[in-house]
Amino acid sequence: MTNRLNLSFVQFAPEFGEVERNLKTAFRLSSRAKEGIIVLPELFNTGYAFNGIDEVKHLAEPIGGRTSDTILDISRKTKSTVVAGFAERDGKKFYNSAMIASQGKFIGIYRKLHLFYREKMWFSPGNMGLQVFDVNGIKVGIMICFDWIFPEVARTLALKGAVVIAHPSNLILKGLCQQVMLARSIENRVFTITANRIGVERRGGEIFRYTGLSQIVNPQMDIIARAGVRQEVVKSVTVDIEDAENKIVFKKNDLFLERRIDDYSMILEKY
Ligand code: ACM
Repeated sequence: MTNRLNLSFVQFAPEFGEVERNLKTAFRLSSRAKEGIIVLPELFNTGYAFNGIDEVKHLAEPIGGRTSDTILDISRKTKSTVVAGFAERDGKKFYNSAMIASQGKFIGIYRKLHLFYREKMWFSPGNMGLQVFDVNGIKVGIMICFDWIFPEVARTLALKGAVVIAHPSNLILKGLCQQVMLARSIENRVFTITANRIGVERRGGEIFRYTGLSQIVNPQMDIIARAGVRQEVVKSVTVDIEDAENKIVFKKNDLFLERRIDDYSMILEKY
């Protein structure tokens, strides 16, 4: 059995509200990725800068809608596992979600736990917790954008067995997350794939400038694939997944076994 696996991100500029066009762009670009795990940005179908709940009502889709069908199609066409962020409708609620599909099959959903800024005005916080999906023996965890600043997220995914963390994003704080994800990778000994978007959205009196610099980081905290700030680009890199199964940092130091959980107990208490 080989442990070699291709990891990819797709970086582009979704156009706000142009769902059909964004789905086509995502399909076209994803076809360039090598077979393996492919991550697309947060809210890749709608764009990010909603201006009011009516827009969310109009654009969010349930599982089974055209966006989830396209994610399934991409995963079938590329023979890959695809993780992509989208605006989800579930009954009367809306979530900033990511769907995972593999080779034409629906695998699951993650709903963003930590909502950023105006997202709180229309999305409900995630109600499905942090899950790790076993896809053909590879354990994939998902977090979305601002989840990066809560180290508990990546830690929880890693403790649940994730070897790859897929991280669809729409980052606006200049390069901060991209730096922090190096730490998330080494402290948990996992591969992280941050698929960020590019472009500028001017909506509702706000300007959002997205920072690009999508990246893949290995468990030794090397950036093994990196996009530019303004580049529409797909990058793939081949890794040995076994690298993330070994939690030893230096000879005798096992990052998971040596945690002093009794001394960290207040992490589980309300602040
Ligand atoms: C973000 O969570 N989209 C910054």
